[in-house]
Amino acid sequence: MADIERVGVVGCGLMGSGIAEVCARSGLDVRVAETTGEALEFGRTRLLSSLGRAAERGRLSEEDRDAALGRITFTTDLGELADRDLVIEAVVENEQVKTEIFQVLDQVVTRPDAILASNTSAIPLVNLAVATSRPAQVLGIHFFNPAQVQRLVEVIPALTTAEETVRRAEALVSGLLGKHPIRAQDRSGFVVNALLIPYLLAAIRMLESGGAGRDDIDSGMELGCAHPLGPLKTADLIGLDTVASIAESMFAELKEPLYAPPPLLLRMVAAGHLGRKSGAGFYPYDPPR
Ligand SMILES: NC(=O)c1ccc[n+]([C@@H]2O[C@H](COP(=O)([O-])OP(=O)(O)OC[C@H]3O[C@@H](n4cnc5c(N)ncnc54)[C@H](O)[C@@H]3O)[C@@H](O)[C@H]2O)c1
Repeated sequence: MADIERVGVVGCGLMGSGIAEVCARSGLDVRVAETTGEALEFGRTRLLSSLGRAAERGRLSEEDRDAALGRITFTTDLGELADRDLVIEAVVENEQVKTEIFQVLDQVVTRPDAILASNTSAIPLVNLAVATSRPAQVLGIHFFNPAQVQRLVEVIPALTTAEETVRRAEALVSGLLGKHPIRAQDRSGFVVNALLIPYLLAAIRMLESGGAGRDDIDSGMELGCAHPLGPLKTADLIGLDTVASIAESMFAELKEPLYAPPPLLLRMVAAGHLGRKSGAGFYPYDPPR
């Protein structure tokens, strides 16, 4: 029997739906859990349209799309993740919410060596690990947005994580999932966000202070540094609430001003202007589907 065949994904937002799609397209049996029937329906629609787009663009045969869909089930009951070999939590970037989920998963998941992973961007993995009775089997498996497309996955052991758990997670990521794992320390921001978030915040501060306009900031980095997306478009793609939460976690841990979320970002989040996913951020977008 393969080590990991049944995967649970908690949260079916931007990341959870992408992670579920990656796992199902790789042949894994996937069960997705959400809070409410409404959130589940929203996530399911997102997942279906992403698989549909992949088939339309010829990246996936219709047969493979249907097979992937057939491997995904949905629930609003975390208890239905009991038989999973691996659960990847991808809910809002809020330590209390994540901690409660890890406590419930610890109670319900029956396989003694099941892996409990978080897709968190900046919350200390050790805090989630010690909320369970199996801290050796908890770690971070951090996908990038969109998970279906981006090849990088950061694998983050907590101080308590067993090397065997890390090895199994890396084997899954580089094997069946076909991604490129890098190992990062359990330090707020890991590798990529530790570099990316201060850059995004600097762009928002530049806009806020009138240093340059939105389009000029993005064009500057797209045309001057060959970045595929400028920093404000990147922030919109990530989700401004997620950018703000990651920045707050990094600032709380590292106490350096460059990680402090600028007021403009916080005001946009308060206004519900969360970027692409809400239909408005630094740029306007089609309403979310
Ligand atoms: N957005 C990105 O670019 C990105 C990239 C890598 C990692 N992450 C991380 O992934 C996680 C999810 O981010 P996202 O962008 O998908 O957020 P999102 O807001 O799109 O989705 C979060 C989902 O979690 C669900 N949820 C909330 N509480 C829940 C609960 N108790 N049980 C089940 N579902 C619950 C919500 O209904 C929502 O659908 C965060 O930890 C974030 O830091 C985000």
